[in-house]
Amino acid sequence: MDNVIRLAILGSGNGTNAQQITEYFAGRQDVEVACIIYNKKDAYIAERARNLGVEARYFGRKDFYETTAVLDYMRAKQVDWVILAGFLWLMPEAILKAYPNHVINIHPALLPAYGGKGMYGHHVHEAVVANHETESGITIHIVDEHYDRGTTLFQARCTVTPDDTPDTLAAKIHLLEKEYFPQVIDRTIKG
Ligand code: GAR
Repeated sequence: MDNVIRLAILGSGNGTNAQQITEYFAGRQDVEVACIIYNKKDAYIAERARNLGVEARYFGRKDFYETTAVLDYMRAKQVDWVILAGFLWLMPEAILKAYPNHVINIHPALLPAYGGKGMYGHHVHEAVVANHETESGITIHIVDEHYDRGTTLFQARCTVTPDDTPDTLAAKIHLLEKEYFPQVIDRTIKG
């Protein structure tokens, strides 16, 4: 046994958060991104993983919900914490059981507002702008068996101005994610 804390990052899309987290922990002796797991075959996150030199593995719906393939893989990689970075499926019960309070998600809004099934990525920003909200932000939380619930670890806010579009709001949110997600993970996993 060594004292390295190993992370699995799960994503479904672009992978900017996965890249930022990996770069943040690069060179650290005590924390390692052990693998990147993705569930959409053509997701750009796979390309980023290759460029970062992190092992990436695709798993489909069956692997997640009907077999122990994902869990077996994470166990083989000695994963201690599961980080959801733009991962858009509900966490299977078996993974939550194997990693109780050790699954962390980031959501691009101030939960409980704009959370729940179907509220992800750009859909969130479209809804926030359509409702003329004056602020939005990010929520980093522990994952339980419901979408976007579980204990909040951290929130950060940004203003939404009348001339913001879903795209400009997304850019503001990405800046907050870049600034805070890696350090909140760091703080949480180090207790
Ligand atoms: C991020 O904005 C993240 O907060 C959001 O998806 C985006 C993924 O971007 N997550 C959710 O909406 C989860 N419900 P990325 O793939 O470039 O990191």
